[in-house]
Amino acid sequence: MEREGQHPREGHGMGSGARFSGTRHGEPGVEYPPDGPAGPRGQGGPEPGGEHGVPRPEPPLAPSGTPGPSGAAGVGVPVEEPGGPPAPAILLAGPGRAGSSLALAWHRAGGPVAWVTGRRDEPARRLAAQVGARTIGWQRLLAEGLPGPWPPVVVLAVADRAVAEAAARLAGRLEAVPEACRPRYALHLSGALGLEPLAPLARLGLATEVFHPLLPLPGGPAAGRDHLAGGYATVVYDPGQNRAPVGPVLARGLGATPVLWPGATARQLALYHAAATLAANGVTALLWAARELLRLSGYPGMAMAARVAAGRDPGPGAGPGSTTAAGSSWGPLEALARAALEAAAERGPLAALTGPIVRGDAATVQRHLEALAGGAGTGGGLGAFDPGPAGRYRLAATLVLAAASARPGDPPAGLEDIARLLGAGGEGAGR
Ligand SMILES: NC(=O)c1ccc[n+]([C@@H]2O[C@H](COP(=O)([O-])OP(=O)(O)OC[C@H]3O[C@@H](n4cnc5c(N)ncnc54)[C@H](OP(=O)(O)O)[C@@H]3O)[C@@H](O)[C@H]2O)c1
Repeated sequence: MEREGQHPREGHGMGSGARFSGTRHGEPGVEYPPDGPAGPRGQGGPEPGGEHGVPRPEPPLAPSGTPGPSGAAGVGVPVEEPGGPPAPAILLAGPGRAGSSLALAWHRAGGPVAWVTGRRDEPARRLAAQVGARTIGWQRLLAEGLPGPWPPVVVLAVADRAVAEAAARLAGRLEAVPEACRPRYALHLSGALGLEPLAPLARLGLATEVFHPLLPLPGGPAAGRDHLAGGYATVVYDPGQNRAPVGPVLARGLGATPVLWPGATARQLALYHAAATLAANGVTALLWAARELLRLSGYPGMAMAARVAAGRDPGPGAGPGSTTAAGSSWGPLEALARAALEAAAERGPLAALTGPIVRGDAATVQRHLEALAGGAGTGGGLGAFDPGPAGRYRLAATLVLAAASARPGDPPAGLEDIARLLGAGGEGAGR
């Protein structure tokens, strides 16, 4: 096992170090992007290389599928051009789900990951080995600093509750580092927090940013996939800061579209993040609730899909759901959910609504509630906060009702009856 600070794969995966215009990654003096006013408050924000004071252009992006400098067939991989701007090296603090996904994707895109640090050695070492980085324990980093130059970008991929403390402690360490040798950027990844937790680092002259990948980053064995490619990354920064944001460079390198949001307030971010959690975790939880309900029904499609997935059944052959059923025991539900998502993407969520509620079919909703009241909905809670199948149905149906009533035009007759049924406070619905 390598010791802290030891490079696990000297020379491996670090071809992108050459991006630093002949210097090793992370050496002081590397300028990326150069200083310049970041742009006017409240506007869409500057694009690096744009009018608002970023003299050097961003690295151009290779077309999708073009092999990157490290040989990866990535998406949106920055092209390394002689004399062009270098890809900034990062120090990744917090090798958890988001941190490992980000570091792996950046590495695959040919971006240098110079250091990985974490509270626990094992995850940091594992990730460092995958991305050709050096490792240092978080406590040792705070106590002694880096045994080498600081890379220009520090990414605090720590839990939301730990960002402020991590930033304050890092700032305490960086106070002892000459200003010219400090990192130039400090980022955290939380879409729910603004720049405030990074204030101690901003006071030391680092440009601070929120870099929020608007995608679920699962970590684990799936972390190496191009999770960010094709997605969006929200970049929040202080429009008054004297340095262009580096987030767009990271985003484009990862194949994601950067959304610049200079000066976003804490409330705006909280609302934005609440929306993001509904679209991601909300949809996932809804699928879970639907699957549990389907199990209660005794529907044979799930067992059939499970047999297909386990290779014990040739599958349904032709017909809807056959392709998804082959890869997962979610078959029928997955096909249904994908079709709903595609319809929402094509027509917008309100226009894509189907089902008894939007038709104003109170009798069918009543039938659902009565079936749930007939035993399936009682005592079905799996956890302290689980209202059970009937309660889950009621919550989701109330949301569908809200969407149905928000559609333009006259609401269908029957919506009020449905509202009464759903608002009956447990009556006829088990619990
Ligand atoms: N996962 C996603 O889908 C996703 C998507 C977008 C943004 N984000 C953001 O990414 C950040 C990390 O989330 P995550 O999902 O990756 O969480 P995670 O898997 O729990 O990882 C959190 C990391 O932070 C470390 N950590 C926790 N408390 C710490 C402390 N006091 N000091 C130092 N390190 C500490 C953890 O170390 P230990 O392992 O030792 O606990 C772990 O390495 C969060 O800000 C989150 O909002 C996540």
